[in-house]
Amino acid sequence: MPDPQSRQTSRRAFLRFLAASPLFASLDLAGCTGTGGSADAAAGRQTGSPGADPSLITRVEDALDVFDFRAVAQHNLPPAHWGYMATGVDGEATLRANEEGFARLYLRPRRLVDVTTVDTRIRLFDRDWNTPIVMSPVSGQLAFHPDRELGSARAARAKDTLQILSTVANSSVEEVAEARGEPTWYQLYPTSRWDVTQALVARAEHTGCPAIALTVDLPVDSNRLTAARLARADTRDCTACHGTPAQRESTYFTQKPMFRGLSLTRKETRAPALTWDFVIRLRDITKAKLVLKGIVTHEDASRALAAGVDGIIVSNHGGRAEESGRATIDSLPEVVEAVSGRIPVLMDGGVRRGNDILKALARGARAVCIGRPYVWGLAAFGQAGVERVLDLLRTELERSMRLAGTPSIKSIGPASIGRAS
Ligand SMILES: Cc1cc2nc3c(=O)[nH]c(=O)nc-3n(C[C@H](O)[C@H](O)[C@H](O)COP(=O)(O)O)c2cc1C
Repeated sequence: MPDPQSRQTSRRAFLRFLAASPLFASLDLAGCTGTGGSADAAAGRQTGSPGADPSLITRVEDALDVFDFRAVAQHNLPPAHWGYMATGVDGEATLRANEEGFARLYLRPRRLVDVTTVDTRIRLFDRDWNTPIVMSPVSGQLAFHPDRELGSARAARAKDTLQILSTVANSSVEEVAEARGEPTWYQLYPTSRWDVTQALVARAEHTGCPAIALTVDLPVDSNRLTAARLARADTRDCTACHGTPAQRESTYFTQKPMFRGLSLTRKETRAPALTWDFVIRLRDITKAKLVLKGIVTHEDASRALAAGVDGIIVSNHGGRAEESGRATIDSLPEVVEAVSGRIPVLMDGGVRRGNDILKALARGARAVCIGRPYVWGLAAFGQAGVERVLDLLRTELERSMRLAGTPSIKSIGPASIGRAS
């Protein structure tokens, strides 16, 4: 057994290694005390058993719904990291609307239908999937668990689920493809530098990513007040992981694995001059399927079609971009109508239960993406938590489909739901 002195020394050496690692430097918002001796502690996580609070589950299998993971995630994470995940913008009306939008829709279940078997398979581009549930791109997952995007990828592999990797992940597209067992879709943030876009797209294509999802809803930074408040309330010293506030500001993107070797100023990380010309240019340089993430109107859906886009994700960034106050489930029908079956339409925002997924499918979504729920699972239990979230939602969807008398995806349609006035 190593003596306590040498344990202290190696602990310090480990923390020095972590602090110097670009992985930790690239955490998204806030950082770490670095006073423990594990990756958990260095990421600022509380790893003490939540058992003292009987309302918190201590084993993944005890989770009854995704909210059980949210509670443990909040317990585990330091305030700044929790705030980064939970935040909306301004008064968070859009964040709330996303969830409430589903509650305003009711199901119109059909009776006396044989629901012995249920079929949740869908086809997206050239690939069949067993479930219409997709993992939205979520940046900086090392802020939530040492398993980071690799834990999510392994869970996606175990549950045969489509994962979309964020541009600003703490893991590279290559290592995520390896953990996933096949290339994921790659989410692309536009920057003000075309050469950077070209390099990112080339790297994703070289890895074999079949689709690029261009996020078009954040031309400038949004006003994330909960994140800012909880970062301010977080009294830990974050310098070891994130550098000084000035360094943090300048290295937000460039410390991320996908930006290694690319120089980019903080200002250049956003693309306020982004227009449809960018989409057309991007269309020209990639053979991958091109999906636009963040479309919420029929006007833009029609323009996307004209620009030769292959798919749309109706999204308001989980209420983290503009404060429109409109739920994505309510934006979905006009986009679906404009597209009229020519390309697949996916949606995300506020999906928390199987019933929500059924309602989105009824409104014409080909697939439904989740963001926070799987990251709650990750923050709570790492890969195992993500797996359980995917299982729970799929089981809930299957139960909802049976109880609604719609045992296959194609049997779900506009008549499956109604809207409370
Ligand atoms: C912590 C966090 C980080 C995110 N990072 C990205 C990102 O890097 N790129 C992106 O296109 N969307 C990002 N999103 C938005 C998600 O892809 C997705 O649109 C949203 O989470 C869906 O809403 P939901 O969280 O209610 O499921 C992020 C969302 C969260 C919560």
